[in-house]
Amino acid sequence: MRWRERLATFVLTNARATMAVVVMLAATVFSPAALAQADAARAQRIASGNCSICHGEQGEWSSELVARIAGQHAEYIARQLADFKSGKRKNKAMAEAVARLTPDEMLALGRHFEKMQLPREPAKDVDLAAVGKALYGSGNTRSGIAACASCHGPDAMGTAGLPRLAGQLAAYIEAQLKQFGRRERTNENAAMHAIAPKLTALEIAALAHFLAGQ
Ligand code: HEC
Ligand code: HEC
Repeated sequence: MRWRERLATFVLTNARATMAVVVMLAATVFSPAALAQADAARAQRIASGNCSICHGEQGEWSSELVARIAGQHAEYIARQLADFKSGKRKNKAMAEAVARLTPDEMLALGRHFEKMQLPREPAKDVDLAAVGKALYGSGNTRSGIAACASCHGPDAMGTAGLPRLAGQLAAYIEAQLKQFGRRERTNENAAMHAIAPKLTALEIAALAHFLAGQ
């Protein structure tokens, strides 16, 4: 009987030791910190391998054709990427770019670009920017345009669910306001569809000029 007891103790002790090693290994590989690090590394690889072609290495690209994504909210970015993938928001270049991304990668990419700094370029046309600033802060009661600041924030910095507009490219802002106005941008649109059709071409240009310089 004694050898049996000894064997049982041996097996139990070693089983406990083996379990401890497994738990320790799992903790290193699957700990939140290690996972976040792996996500960040993956986002960095996808960003430099794909996104940078159009958005620049730092999400700062200033081509007329794309959006600036540096400093944009991570959750907003992730949602737009999901919408481009599902076709809820339509853009051929972006649909191809996100076709194989998982939801985790989308959020990791959002966090990656959120950390980047946007270069500041003060508005060149001070008068046009002043018109945009007034409209942004107070809206236009005559034509029933709500103050943009009431949703996008007094400094146009947005929130997790609402895009930051400060420092965005003027051409991109104009294009989006026109798309909302024509109901071509159709994701999460109730607010912007009510506002954009009421904006005149001059108001759109003024808002875009003011916001790009923020
Ligand atoms: C071939 C060019 C191209 C590539 C590659 C590309 N993008 Fe884009 N991206 C665009 C264009 C063009 C737009 C503007 C779409 C529109 O006008 O609605 C855009 C828009 C976006 C937006 C929406 C911005 C906003 O403010 O709503 C996000 C977010 C974005 N891209 C992230 C990414 C990420 C992340 C990658 C890499 C996985 C990527 N893009 C790769 C061209 C590209
Ligand atoms: C009632 C709230 C509300 C008000 C007021 C509002 N917006 Fe928006 N706006 C939104 C929401 C919500 C979105 C995000 C839509 C989405 O998630 O796709 C948005 C998106 C946008 C976008 C697209 C940004 C991007 O990165 O693609 C622009 C540009 C914009 N708004 C400009 C304005 C301007 C200019 C005004 C004032 C004339 C204004 N908004 C007023 C709620 C609002």
